Amino acid sequence: LPVVDEELERRLARRLAAVEEQLIGHCRGRTDYVSTAAAHLMAAGGKRFRPLLVLLAAETGPKPDAPEVLTAACVVELTHVASLYHDDVMDEAALRRGADTANARWDNHVAILTGDFLFGKSSELTADLGPDAVRIQARTFTRLVEGQILETVEPGPGEDPLAHYLEVVAGKTGSLIATSARYGAMFGGASAEVVEALSQYGEIVGSAFQLSDDILDIASESGESGKTPGTDLREGVPTLPILMAKASTDPADARLLELLSADLTDDALHAEALDLLRKHSAMQEARAFVVARAEEAKALLSVLDPGSVRTALESFADVVASRTA
Ligand code: FPP
Ligand code: MG
Ligand code: MG
Repeated sequence: LPVVDEELERRLARRLAAVEEQLIGHCRGRTDYVSTAAAHLMAAGGKRFRPLLVLLAAETGPKPDAPEVLTAACVVELTHVASLYHDDVMDEAALRRGADTANARWDNHVAILTGDFLFGKSSELTADLGPDAVRIQARTFTRLVEGQILETVEPGPGEDPLAHYLEVVAGKTGSLIATSARYGAMFGGASAEVVEALSQYGEIVGSAFQLSDDILDIASESGESGKTPGTDLREGVPTLPILMAKASTDPADARLLELLSADLTDDALHAEALDLLRKHSAMQEARAFVVARAEEAKALLSVLDPGSVRTALESFADVVASRTA
């Protein structure tokens, strides 16, 4: 985050370090084998985007230091990392956070069970947060899974492919990021109005985060993203820049359109499509779309008093829209 208030930044850094320590602890299982597999992705790093949002959202209330805030920050990251173990199996991904994925390092069975283990850990912690949190967590989990399932289904006849895709994104990513903001505001003791506004803010910022991720999947080299570039393209997942390019009627795009409807598991065809997409105006169009979402999210912050917390949440949305990693 750009520095907006050094005191706020120090507080957040201190709490984030406490969350980090707890997270590593929660990856411990009954045997070294389980602990190693569970700590694998957690120790590989990650942006800790969701825990940071919990901590920042908690600053909108009178008790940002409540122990429940730290627990909630662990819950959302454990849930997220659990879903990544499963995601990498489904996407047959080999690289995550600059490290081998669990499915590549071990096998699919280990990856799936480790995801389940971490989801179990996050459920145990959620129970400590009480019945409201359990209900929110259950709903979030359903939305995550439904979003992921929807990604594997073609849009219905007459359904706008972009609308279909935005529904996928809201489910698989917006839901957990909305919950991160909601938990933060809720356990920080903010008013019901602020809790609702921040949850909506999180939903939009979360979708923008995934759309930026989609753009980076095409634009960045693996050294920057820690992942294999063009994975969505190879898997045939029609993400935002791909959908925007597909809408082109320019005859100069004929070759790209042909490639985008072909099987891109072939390395040479995949490289050609990736190269054409990177140069295409759809990339700019997709970026502008994400910036517009960030502006929508920021407008929801008008329920907050002006000050360093609101400014930090505004920059948080801007950072998401201009992600480079
Ligand atoms: C990453 O998307 C995947 C998600 C954001 C959610 C996946 C959800 C599930 C697998 C269901 C939930 C399961 C559990 C155990 C909680 P991506 O593949 O587009 O992103 P990537 O580029 O980071 O791989
Ligand atoms: Mg993936
Ligand atoms: Mg995926």
